[in-house]
Amino acid sequence: MALLTVEHLTMKFGGLVAVNDFDLALEKNEIVGLIGPNGAGKTTVFNMIAGYYTPTEGAIRYQGSSIAGQKANRITKAGIARTFQNIRLFSELSVIENVMIGYHCRIRSTFLGATLRFPLYRREEKMMVEGAMQLLKEVGLEDVAREMSTSLPYGKQRRLEIARALATGPQLLLLDEPAAGMNPNETQDLLQLILKLRKDFDLTVFLIEHDMKFVMEICERLKVLDYGTTIAEGTPHEIQNNPRVIEAYLGEVQRA
Ligand SMILES: Nc1ncnc2c1ncn2[C@@H]1O[C@H](COP(=O)(O)OP(=O)(O)OP(=O)(O)O)[C@@H](O)[C@H]1O
Ligand SMILES: [Mg+2]
Repeated sequence: MALLTVEHLTMKFGGLVAVNDFDLALEKNEIVGLIGPNGAGKTTVFNMIAGYYTPTEGAIRYQGSSIAGQKANRITKAGIARTFQNIRLFSELSVIENVMIGYHCRIRSTFLGATLRFPLYRREEKMMVEGAMQLLKEVGLEDVAREMSTSLPYGKQRRLEIARALATGPQLLLLDEPAAGMNPNETQDLLQLILKLRKDFDLTVFLIEHDMKFVMEICERLKVLDYGTTIAEGTPHEIQNNPRVIEAYLGEVQRA
């Protein structure tokens, strides 16, 4: 059984059909890419899967259960984590505290228990600090754990977002333009990091990205959206040679 199945997914904003009849089946441990021009509907697909938008039509099944229209925090608890195209870190918190935020969906302590520092909270806090530090090591940020998150350069902020997503304990990771703003060296490091994380955390990865070198190298399969509609799907090799994709998107990327 596929880990995630999406059928006939459609999202309308007033008269605009942002995503039209989108289908997807993700098998466990795959790395699948979603590409297409600006405004094609890629982030909208993520927002529906992750519970930020309720689809106008269509079904989303995760590990066999329907999740379409459920709240984001419930979907996170079920095992789907995401990063954001526009980085969303808590600017007033340190690097490690940003990762600890990710743990909050997993702990049992109540707000009152935390405020009064009940024994359960103290145990859970210890677990969160140790776990967060371990995740920072995984993404190569252990040296900057106590710095303010916004003092980090852009590439490191993107990796911090990944660490925070991992803190929620996902099986499926959705990455929205993880290489955006990175230089070629950082992008290559990110590629290796994602492969390592897949192995270490037994992850399935669905990612959006405009960096075609990165996408073609890391993804086993690709889907191409244009004006909300899937115009192609296949292996990177098939997509690179698809005339319709070249016309709608790749030609433009290659000219840029
Ligand atoms: N909340 C919303 N309300 C109205 N329109 C929206 C909303 N979210 C997205 N859209 C519109 O839906 C279309 C698809 O947007 P989306 O952000 O999914 O594109 P994208 O493929 O992620 O593009 P990019 O590569 O620029 O990030 C766009 O026309 C966008 O303006
Ligand atoms: Mg987007």
